Amino acid sequence: MIITVINQKGGVGKTTTAVNLSYVLSKSKNVALLDMDPEGGSTTSFGMKREKKELEIGSKSVNIFNVEVFPAHLGLLKAELNGDVEDVVNKIKETAKDFDILVIDTPPNLGTLAVASMIAADKILSPVTPQPLALEAAKNLDGRLQSLNKKALAFTNLSNKAISLELSSVQFLNIHIPQSRLFIEASRLGVPATRYEEVRLKKPKLSHFFEELAKVTLE
Ligand SMILES: Nc1ncnc2c1ncn2[C@@H]1O[C@H](COP(=O)(O)OP(=O)(O)OP(=O)(O)O)[C@@H](O)[C@H]1O
Ligand SMILES: [Mg+2]
Repeated sequence: MIITVINQKGGVGKTTTAVNLSYVLSKSKNVALLDMDPEGGSTTSFGMKREKKELEIGSKSVNIFNVEVFPAHLGLLKAELNGDVEDVVNKIKETAKDFDILVIDTPPNLGTLAVASMIAADKILSPVTPQPLALEAAKNLDGRLQSLNKKALAFTNLSNKAISLELSSVQFLNIHIPQSRLFIEASRLGVPATRYEEVRLKKPKLSHFFEELAKVTLE
């Protein structure tokens, strides 16, 4: 199963979602995380460096905390510019074959890499934040999903209550992740926040959000 995390708006929590969902799912499944953002947010969140080489998509991975992480590399920029969506979709599907679940982190745009990641997906998850521009982005994403004949599940990040919008291809879940400094502390250390809190806190605060998200996504 391929789960793509998408939102063309920057800084809404795509990487945070992809990283923590992968970590939580890896407790019970054979999970890989494919970093399709040339900026490499998921790569650094697992303490790795972006590859300076031009690799093929899905050709190099490292196992960290039981998640098979495919780091960002220079080949992603080339694929983005080449614009061969079908080729990228095929590479994603080929990569997914070895795992129960492949989670994909995407860049903040709707270019080749993001569109191919949506087309290849069995499930699409979209974090949304409660600012007006972010809501506008959700409406634009809805249009793009309709044109691709795809559906997405949205949830609210950085908020104490869940947003609900009536859109045709985006279904809003009653799940909201509050602001927490744990995410920032963990990302400085290059570990998923859900891993960090296991070590740091007696009672984890964040894992249940991602477990709930995982449960709904796998339904
Ligand atoms: N619930 C939260 N509480 C506190 N900080 C958060 C939360 N969610 C995300 N952040 C922080 O906000 C920043 C942006 O989050 P993240 O990198 O996940 O967004 P993104 O959508 O992947 O951004 P980009 O589009 O630039 O790739 C990061 O520093 C992250 O640690
Ligand atoms: Mg990101």
